Amino acid sequence: MSDNPTPLPIARTVEALRAVVRDWRRQGFTVAFVPTMGALHEGHLTLVRAAGQHADRVVASIFVNPAQFAAHEDLGTYPRREAGDAALLAGVGCDLLFAPTVAEMYPDGFVTAVSVGGPSQGLETDFRPHFFGGVAVVVAKLLNQVQADVAVFGEKDYQQLMVVRRMARDLDIPTRIIGAQTMRDSHGLALSSRNAYLSEAELDIARRLNGVLAEAALKAADRRPLAAVERDAYSDLLKAGFERVDYVAVRRADDLAPFPNGVVDAPARILAAAWLGKTRLIDNLAV
Ligand code: PAF
Repeated sequence: MSDNPTPLPIARTVEALRAVVRDWRRQGFTVAFVPTMGALHEGHLTLVRAAGQHADRVVASIFVNPAQFAAHEDLGTYPRREAGDAALLAGVGCDLLFAPTVAEMYPDGFVTAVSVGGPSQGLETDFRPHFFGGVAVVVAKLLNQVQADVAVFGEKDYQQLMVVRRMARDLDIPTRIIGAQTMRDSHGLALSSRNAYLSEAELDIARRLNGVLAEAALKAADRRPLAAVERDAYSDLLKAGFERVDYVAVRRADDLAPFPNGVVDAPARILAAAWLGKTRLIDNLAV
C-alpha cells in the first residue's frame, strides 16, 4: 500500500482503470481489490486496510449494482455519497477508486448472465431469488476489469463470499478471494450501510441479533438437534422485537449445505436474516 495520495484518483471507465493498473504492473507492483456499493463505514475501511496488507496497491470500487436489486427493493434510495467515500478511502491508503456509470458496466445490448449453483442455493436465494445472479455478473466483471492479485470480501455477507469464491474457482478467475472478519459496533451489531435506515428503537432490537445467534451457535456446537436450535433462535428473534424472520439456519461452513444428520459434525456457520420495519438485516457467526 502506498502513502495516501489526496485527493484519491477516480477512474470512471474500464479503459482508465486498466491504464493505471497496467502502469503499476510495469513497475512491478501487486494489486488488491475491494468491491463496494459505497456508503462506506468502518467495515469497508477494514477491508481496504486488509487489502493493503496483501498487495502494494489497492483499488476500491463503488458501484450500486442495479442487477442485484429487485424492482421493489431500495435501489433508488440506497445511500450514495461518493465524495465522502473517496475521502475515507484515501485515509486508509486506497490508491484508486473505480466508480463506473451504469452505462459503462451494462452498455446497451448487455445480455450475459452468470449463474452459480452450490452455495447460492437456499438462504438468501429463497427470499431474494434475483440476488446472486446480479452479484455474480457484476463481481465477475469487476474481477476481470481490475485483474487484481487478491480481492477482499466481508464475512458479513458470508453466503456472498462463498458464492464469489466458487464462481472464481469455477471460471478460473485468477484473483485470490480473501474473506475478512465482520466489524461490529460495541453492542455486537454487524456494521452495514443499511443500519442507517434504523430508528433508535429499531437499533436497540437490531443489536440483539448477534446475541441470539451466539446462543444458538453454542447449542449447535454442543450437537443439539439443529431443527430445535433453529426453531428456538427464530422465536427468540421474534421475542426480541424483530417483525419478521426470513431464516435462521446452521449450515456447513465451506459450502453452506445442510447437515444431513441434523446435528453439527463438521465446521459450521449460523446465518440469519430478519426484518425491522423496512430494513432487512443479515448476520452470521462461526459455530
Ligand atoms: O457486498 C456488496 O457490497 C456487493 O454485493 C458487491 C460485492 C460490491 C457487488 O455489488
